Amino acid sequence: MTQAVGIARAHTNIALIKYWGKRDKDLFLPMNSSLSLTLEAFYTDTKVTFDDELIKDIFLLNGKEQSEKEVAKISHFLDLFCEYIGKRPFARVESINFVPTAAGLASSASAFAALALAVADALKLDMTRQELSTFARRGSGSSTRSLFGGFVEWAMGTSSEDSMAHPVDDADWDIGMLVLVVDSQEKKIASRIGMEHTVQTSPFYPAWIETAREDLQAMKAAIAEKDFETLGRITEHNGFKMHATTLSANPPFTYWSADSLLAQEAVRLVREELQVPAYMTMDAGPNVKILCRASDMGRLQKALSIHFPAENIISSLPGPAAYVLSEADWQQSKMRLTEGNHI
Ligand code: DP6
Repeated sequence: MTQAVGIARAHTNIALIKYWGKRDKDLFLPMNSSLSLTLEAFYTDTKVTFDDELIKDIFLLNGKEQSEKEVAKISHFLDLFCEYIGKRPFARVESINFVPTAAGLASSASAFAALALAVADALKLDMTRQELSTFARRGSGSSTRSLFGGFVEWAMGTSSEDSMAHPVDDADWDIGMLVLVVDSQEKKIASRIGMEHTVQTSPFYPAWIETAREDLQAMKAAIAEKDFETLGRITEHNGFKMHATTLSANPPFTYWSADSLLAQEAVRLVREELQVPAYMTMDAGPNVKILCRASDMGRLQKALSIHFPAENIISSLPGPAAYVLSEADWQQSKMRLTEGNHI
């Protein structure tokens, strides 16, 4: 092999039943199964070029060469695939994020899913999507789910081989999400650190695990029945329970900022005023995501813009599964990068 190239796009996902805690840190085995909605509006495009002439891995994000620390994360991830094929050519990895990086919008989810699919494409790996999701998982847990579109479950499994994602429903039934970008700065406590501290110190953690299991069963039933209000109520309750585990950790911490609380209050006011079903969820950052009917997004956006800068309210429909891109698609993405159109 002199050069082997693969290019892929993966959309980010927002968990409606959160993944919060690992039972095996090295293998990224979660303490609980989770369920997410893939979003159309945010994604990562990645091109990987394995090249025999390279003497080390290179990683460029949004056109900028990354630090050794960032390259090391990519190299470690590539090692997993190379172990599988039994050789280790070095690679040039180029990614373009159409996601506000580290804003709690799970950019690592789309990043490792896109990289996993690009590598599988470059190396012509003969594996199912589900199998590939077990590789993506080891870059970042949430990326397990970004290989699929719509509603996706990541089943915790019993081992590294069966802790994988599978599609639950294409979410093609008037589903949407609004993201209130409260703060697009780098998150202060990485989810990896936050979840570990919580598992170790929160007395509420066992209750989290117990009820996350029940929430997942109830949510899958609600999705099967297309019962939006039950789906939304479980989403909001599950997310707040996850955040209750951080508040009960020792020492306690939170991902919420003062503005997150204002945003939450705005959502409560607006849904009351419009009498529209809209349910909040938050991740390891200060931003607030709202699960709503796609057909209500316009009205909600308008009403929220009285309380919140309109340019910080982003809407999205459900997104597709990750897919392979052509060289021409890649050139277009690069063009958007130079034109400053990426987020
Ligand atoms: C709150 O997938 O970022 O967004 O596996 O350590 O990389 P690592 O963590 P990550 O955690 C995501 C946590 C969450 C909930 C979720 O997406 O399920």
